[in-house]
Amino acid sequence: MVLECNNLCKRIGKKQILNNITFNINEGEIMGFIGPNGAGKTTTIKLILGLQSITSGQVKINGYDIKRNFEKAIYKVGSIVENPDFYMYLSGYDNLKLSANLYKKEDKIDENRVNEVIKLVGLENRIHDKVSKYSLGMRQRLGIAQAILHRPNLLILDEPTNGLDPEGIKDLRILLSKLAKEEKIAILISSHNLAEIENTCTKITIIKNGEIIESTSIENAKKIDQKTIYEIEVDDTSKIPEITGNSADIMNKNIFKINMEKEEIADLVEKMVKQNIRVYKISEDTTSLEDAFLKKTGGNKIV
Ligand SMILES: Nc1ncnc2c1ncn2[C@@H]1O[C@H](COP(=O)(O)OP(=O)(O)OP(=O)(O)O)[C@@H](O)[C@H]1O
Ligand SMILES: [Mg+2]
Repeated sequence: MVLECNNLCKRIGKKQILNNITFNINEGEIMGFIGPNGAGKTTTIKLILGLQSITSGQVKINGYDIKRNFEKAIYKVGSIVENPDFYMYLSGYDNLKLSANLYKKEDKIDENRVNEVIKLVGLENRIHDKVSKYSLGMRQRLGIAQAILHRPNLLILDEPTNGLDPEGIKDLRILLSKLAKEEKIAILISSHNLAEIENTCTKITIIKNGEIIESTSIENAKKIDQKTIYEIEVDDTSKIPEITGNSADIMNKNIFKINMEKEEIADLVEKMVKQNIRVYKISEDTTSLEDAFLKKTGGNKIV
């Protein structure tokens, strides 16, 4: 296991910021860490990186405890928390060379490795331009290049899609999948927008109010996703809450919405007919993974 977080808790003053955060990430896995503003994503990441003290619980990276064995634990980690810092008046290449020089000689971050990461992130055509001339997406790529120079096997990115346009987000997704595959890196990527990253991730952990409300493989997540929201038009919705066990959203006197599988809909129609409800129309509204999760966890919009 590359990263293990066991029952992480964080309290600042009287405020409980994180409560029993537990998850792990293996080689080549990409975990999407999803939650609304203030959920505790950045705090969790800071605890993992040893940037904030852990109130209780444990972080292990490649088997090393971050508290007891900080240097060994952090050795194979690359991260971008908040915006990466660069020398704007230098080229991307010179920035990478400077970073490479910060590592010990035996880590062998030579010219070849610098050129290798430049290729990996697809910056070869612009690498000799000054960073001040880079777009946000190019800076993001340079940040990732810098973070993976020393061949980490764990890469942690806090909201890397912030400010990127759809094209930039797509490029980032492709790059991360490539890193997970080709360099076997375990990746933790936080975001407040599940839709942006769901296709890249192999697993998803959702955090809200400092607690994990869902942690699942993408296959399982997709199963939830297969449920469909149906919009159903009837003559009178007043008996619907009773018939559906309060699982429907009553829109008005004639329309309600419900999240169900196909077979369940057939059963529901039968029940409605037995109750003398006139069913006029059933239409499908395929829902995104995020909606499906929110349904399952009782709402509260993640924005
Ligand atoms: N130093 C601090 N003192 C007190 N409260 C803090 C401190 N740092 C963070 N918090 C609180 O902890 C909670 C979690 O914050 P955190 O930054 O981890 O959320 P986040 O999920 O990263 O949110 P965002 O999507 O906005 O980046 C918030 O309620 C925040 O106000
Ligand atoms: Mg944050």
